[in-house]
Amino acid sequence: MAAPSAEAVVGELNERGAICLPSFFDAPFVEDMRGEAITLLSSQISGVKKNELSSGTRLRFDSKVFRDPRFTHLGQAFAVSLVREVAAGYNPKSKASLDTATITYDKKPYKITDVHFDIERSLKFMIYLSDVYKENAAFRYCLGSHRENTKLRNRLLLLGGSLWNLPTIPDASEDFILTDMEGPRGTLIIFDTDGFHSAGSLEQGKERLLIRARTLLSGWYDDHFLRYVARLNPLQFLVPLIVPAGRRTTGGRAMARIEVH
Ligand SMILES: [Fe+2]
Repeated sequence: MAAPSAEAVVGELNERGAICLPSFFDAPFVEDMRGEAITLLSSQISGVKKNELSSGTRLRFDSKVFRDPRFTHLGQAFAVSLVREVAAGYNPKSKASLDTATITYDKKPYKITDVHFDIERSLKFMIYLSDVYKENAAFRYCLGSHRENTKLRNRLLLLGGSLWNLPTIPDASEDFILTDMEGPRGTLIIFDTDGFHSAGSLEQGKERLLIRARTLLSGWYDDHFLRYVARLNPLQFLVPLIVPAGRRTTGGRAMARIEVH
């Protein structure tokens, strides 16, 4: 498929919060990336944190690992012009550099994550390294929900609330529709983590291999002085009033589970 312009992608992200570009990377390149991801999964490499989960394996590492000559294709994938231009264009205030990257390889049936939005707001670039459809626990996103959640985040911080009290899990009664982001290996998905999202359920005998990297998004509240002043805000007691009924915070233990998507 012809790649869209960075301007078009940024416009789509502003409006809907996520975009799915099926077969963005061509097959031979994807096979090289897939081989490198498998090598990473089976290696002991300094700076790569490995977690064995009930659904499979997760690696988390600093994007410096991409400088290793064994992983050049993975590094190149996140250095293509569309990724760089969208990272810079979606939030010009951010440094637009990719910091951490994650590889997840799920092989066992398991409900992978609850619907949530992330405590720390970022723009994520996710590449499917296996064919991922609904039965492979495709990534799911509630299009457009990032706008209200960003407003909620800003209001809470303006009133002096803590990010750890941000209610990131919706109530079952809230009306949101999740769209499955499906595609063959080589599909690129870009999303603002302020939209509600999750992975689906992996069916028996199916697998899902993906890599993603992120760039943190900044906002007016990232200014240290404003955050300090907000903590002294005498209106903090109003924070519960701005939270939609039934919303929950993520909590410590659930946090580790939720980061699997
Ligand atoms: Fe998430």
